[in-house]
Amino acid sequence: MPDEPLRSEALRSPAGTHDVLWPESARWEWIVGDFAKRASLYGYRLLVTPVIEDARLFARGFGETSDVVGKEMYTFEDRGGRPLALRPEGTAPVVRSYIQHRPVLPWKVWYLTPAFRYERPQAGRYRQHHQIGVEALGVDSPLLDAEVIELAMSTVRAAGLTNTELLINSMGCKECRPAYESALSQYLAARQGGLCAYHHEHWKEVPLRVLDCKTEECRGATMDAPRIADHLCSDCRESFDTVLGDLDALGISYTTDYRLVRGFDYYTRTTFEIVSHSLDAAQNAIGGGGRYNGLVEALSGPPTPGMGFGIGMERLLVACDAEGCLPVPDPSVDVYVADLGQAGTSTLIHDLRNAGYSVERSYEDRSLKAQLRSAGRMGARIALIIGQREAAAGEVLLKPLALDDDQVVVARDVIVHVAGKWVERCRRHLAAGRVAERSR
Ligand code: HAM
Repeated sequence: MPDEPLRSEALRSPAGTHDVLWPESARWEWIVGDFAKRASLYGYRLLVTPVIEDARLFARGFGETSDVVGKEMYTFEDRGGRPLALRPEGTAPVVRSYIQHRPVLPWKVWYLTPAFRYERPQAGRYRQHHQIGVEALGVDSPLLDAEVIELAMSTVRAAGLTNTELLINSMGCKECRPAYESALSQYLAARQGGLCAYHHEHWKEVPLRVLDCKTEECRGATMDAPRIADHLCSDCRESFDTVLGDLDALGISYTTDYRLVRGFDYYTRTTFEIVSHSLDAAQNAIGGGGRYNGLVEALSGPPTPGMGFGIGMERLLVACDAEGCLPVPDPSVDVYVADLGQAGTSTLIHDLRNAGYSVERSYEDRSLKAQLRSAGRMGARIALIIGQREAAAGEVLLKPLALDDDQVVVARDVIVHVAGKWVERCRRHLAAGRVAERSR
């Protein structure tokens, strides 16, 4: 059936996925560029790992009872019968890569990755979302925890967000968590009747997750539940106090939240989430992370502590929309070159681009007037016009479109230099206008 037209659903991005078109993609560029620079200041280097991994990596890493493994993973067998999964997050692949390559510790990496989870699509919740994040392996220090949180917070602040809250908790460690879990289980067993329908049946699987349940029933029933902060061993207590003390010193405010247990079993000690109060409570986490000191070992690597976070690109951007920050960067082109198809135009355009200016032109045979209309529509800062007269005289007519100044005739051999000066003048003028507008 090669000629049968495709049905309409085949021509739409699959449910829960989306295309990122310009100008939205311009904001992505800005965020990723800013994050790459920021992460490198903290010593993180880019790591790129495959989108597919052995499915057993995630089952082992997150715990079989986690929602991601139980309900949300995209798993399949490839043609060779291998069990694969589309990565649902970025941490386990980093740990796998560490175990495979054994780089020198501490190993600090950052990433931009798509993540796939079969969830019910809704505002801010996708089946393919994207995360920027970092992982630091080989350092078990609360000073690193505070620094990682600082990096996450500064990323969110750089986008202009202010209506956010940093929630923080400690999950304890393998020494103190079991006693806490049994105190929580005793408490829940006595209140099973008050839990939501799902947790009424399933609370025993991971009692901690009941604390995280958003239903009114579970929230009410766990109001007076034992809190992990009261059950930490002295090492975990000391570590948590140091994290909080360092955040205080860095001027980062936070709220300790005993309900913050997060969805993966790998967390130990510090966990955190950055929530936006401008978003609907069901999807208000912009980013989250924490320490995972047992994960490398759980994945059959040598005991190695780890700490990191992931920030959801889509969530970050909807929060920006809600707060009216991070506007689309100015898309205007610097120079529009209008000509009559003369031979030297491509070289001129090449020289301008090489000098760092964005340039547009017409690729078709159009009148100079029509080309100048396009220049106006594109918001070009200046136009360079090469008509018959200019071509014959070895000159270019420079028209500053962003300023009221008159057009000037410029010799062809100095045009790149002169055009650059005019572009800079226009940029300064436009920037001053934007500042004046903001202060009005
Ligand atoms: P996570 O909390 O599952 O953590 O995801 C991190 C962020 O990704 C969330 O805060 C949210 O902004 C975004 N996100 C998650 N699921 C979706 C979705 N379905 N649609 C849109 N955005 C979503 C992790 O993934 C951990 N690996 C973070 C980490 C790194 N922990 C230690 N290191």
